[in-house]
Amino acid sequence: MTRPPYETRDESRDRTREKTREETREEAREETREETRDKSREETRAPLTRTPAPDRAKISFREVSRHHPVKGGAFTALDRLSLDIAEGEFVAVVGPSGCGKSTLLNLAAGLDAPSGGEVLVDGVPVRGPGPDRGVVFQQYALFPWLTVRGNVEFGLRLTRLPAAERRRRADHAIALVGLGDFADALPRALSGGMKQRCALARAYAVDPAVLLMDEPFGALDALTRVRSQEQLLATWTRERRTVLFVTHDVDEAVYLAGRVVVMAARPGRVHRVVEVPLPRPRTEELRLSREFAEVRNEVWHAVYHQEPATPDA
Ligand SMILES: Nc1ncnc2c1ncn2[C@@H]1O[C@H](COP(=O)(O)OP(=O)(O)OP(=O)(O)O)[C@@H](O)[C@H]1O
Ligand SMILES: [Mg+2]
Repeated sequence: MTRPPYETRDESRDRTREKTREETREEAREETREETRDKSREETRAPLTRTPAPDRAKISFREVSRHHPVKGGAFTALDRLSLDIAEGEFVAVVGPSGCGKSTLLNLAAGLDAPSGGEVLVDGVPVRGPGPDRGVVFQQYALFPWLTVRGNVEFGLRLTRLPAAERRRRADHAIALVGLGDFADALPRALSGGMKQRCALARAYAVDPAVLLMDEPFGALDALTRVRSQEQLLATWTRERRTVLFVTHDVDEAVYLAGRVVVMAARPGRVHRVVEVPLPRPRTEELRLSREFAEVRNEVWHAVYHQEPATPDA
């Protein structure tokens, strides 16, 4: 059946009402075309370069400020902060408490809006949250009345996937964080570390291009923390998402990231950016190496020997 070129597929369906065999074939062709388009979209996402041109930034903070109204004036949580994060990059953010790390992350997540400047993802200003950005909060935010699986599936509600696919993805992510035996448990039956892993599974399940993580391993015991770091790196190496990772732990930042952004407080700003020239895959031996210690000391120094805080305007 030939269709006038100006007629949309929906109009064509309305016209015939009944689904003809030709139409079914045309739908199959459309599906194939859709798959090809998806594939070429995938291909344009790769290859991922470690030092892309600035205009290829996945996340771009441009002169971003965030002021909070306080009694008698405004508190500047972020002051004209600029930072570009390339596609597929792993960037860690460290800095003293209150320097604006969570603010930065929330702005990229679209959960907060800048008072000045703009935040771009793929060159488009962030206007709100979206399934392209998975967020793991500093405080694991689980619904207490939903099971582990329910919480993870809830994170998939924006994806419009069929129920069976949502279930498959949720179970895969739950297994990935080692909570397979607790899929039907409610959060109150989980330890702090397990709750945090559930929050991680929720972010992984959405399979976002960007992962925004705020102290995601803060509540974990030392061993689980190291395992979670390794797991995150393994996933990142395989899937090359863009990761913005906030942590207090300088060792963790150096172990995971390609660049460590050191922030300063009052007002919140970028103090220094330290490149991490350590090879990948990162291993336990590397953690104990002299090269690792050198980078860690450099970051440590930048965090803990900042110039004295200036009084806030
Ligand atoms: N709603 C608000 N009203 C006033 N001040 C705020 C508000 N939200 C955040 N702030 C202030 O902005 C600053 C940055 O907060 P933010 O939570 O981003 O810090 P942080 O670097 O994540 O700290 P931490 O390491 O303790 O988590 C802090 O001094 C905080 O008190
Ligand atoms: Mg914070």
